[in-house]
Amino acid sequence: MVNQPHGGFLINRELTGQRRAEAIKNAEKLRSITVNSWVISDMELIGIGGFSPLTGFMAQADYENVVKNTRLADGTIWSIPITLPVTVEQAKNLNIGEQIALKGKDGIIYGTINLAEKYEYDKKKEAQNIYGTTNAAHPGVKKVYEKGNIYLGGAITLLNRPDHSQFAAHYLDPAETQQMFKELGWKTIVGFQTRNPVHRAHEHIQKTALESVDGLLLNPLVGETKSDDIPAIVRMESYKTIVENYYVKDRVRLVIYPAAMRYAGPKEAILHAIVRKNYGCTHFIVGRDHAGVGDYYGTYEAQELIAQFEEEIGIQIFKFEHAFYCKVCENMASAKTCPHNKENHIHLSGTKVRELLRNGKRPPKEFSRPEVADVLIKGMQKN
Ligand code: ADX
Repeated sequence: MVNQPHGGFLINRELTGQRRAEAIKNAEKLRSITVNSWVISDMELIGIGGFSPLTGFMAQADYENVVKNTRLADGTIWSIPITLPVTVEQAKNLNIGEQIALKGKDGIIYGTINLAEKYEYDKKKEAQNIYGTTNAAHPGVKKVYEKGNIYLGGAITLLNRPDHSQFAAHYLDPAETQQMFKELGWKTIVGFQTRNPVHRAHEHIQKTALESVDGLLLNPLVGETKSDDIPAIVRMESYKTIVENYYVKDRVRLVIYPAAMRYAGPKEAILHAIVRKNYGCTHFIVGRDHAGVGDYYGTYEAQELIAQFEEEIGIQIFKFEHAFYCKVCENMASAKTCPHNKENHIHLSGTKVRELLRNGKRPPKEFSRPEVADVLIKGMQKN
């Protein structure tokens, strides 16, 4: 049996068919606010149930409890605020009880919110409790500081999903992945989050996990990332190439995770696990410095935090040590399995890899599969 959604059942806040057509007509007459692609991706994930049990943008009681206690107001584990920020000026004109259209910069109405609350929030506290720092150089904290000073809370209705046509063959919503797992006969499924091009350590930990379960959901995040991360379109080519050349086709499915990256390390690892549970995964991988950036988090901090919550969330976490290729072992290994000196270990930083690729050079084959390196070199030159 695939895993049960967080909170018991899959939320569906999306309208389809005639009801959707009528709601769109109606929404065109409503007052609207223009929202960015981050908010739209959150709205999509609420609408399709990826963020179950959330039914909308957080009201104050949920928000405060998430920031303080890593739980919604009713006690359900939740680790990252999902909020709709507006400026004080915008908020002034909006009335509680009003239905408001949420428009993209492209003019499309992606959904509506039934405005239940507007409230002020403490940016420093959000930064400290969620990101573990108030430093504006942290990309997630920077976003918090840039947001409007008021959050709007209330249930949403999703009327249009954002355009994922460039990944159409790899877009499934949680109801669809759950159905797919049933059809495949997979009872145990490990989810894998990534925002980077695939390298040998990724492959190693995925395949090690796969030895213990029926299937692997390769679930790369393709929403907003920081500007020096490799674009999703290039990364997707790298995932397709490695699956094609190095994976057993019946044991892996590549499906996008259309969310924005927060870089919140330990707290984001919890969100990532909850979402993959909603997609039907029974297991989830947390390796070294999961969802981390710079030196803000300890190498295994995400593993330590999620260990406190995994049983209650109801998803088993596969925790992996930092993996590398060892020239003496002639194999992928970790400190748990390799007794040799560091000089024998091949390790490249993300910055170094990007530099090589930009110069049209393949990283060593012990670090990156040559087929993947070639795809990345081509992609980096185009993008
Ligand atoms: S993340 O921000 O999405 O976590 P990335 O795509 O690099 O970044 O990592 C995806 C997953 O692989 C995370 O669980 C991360 O901890 C794990 N991971 C990445 N590199 C290694 C490595 N060398 N050894 C062990 N785990 C790793």
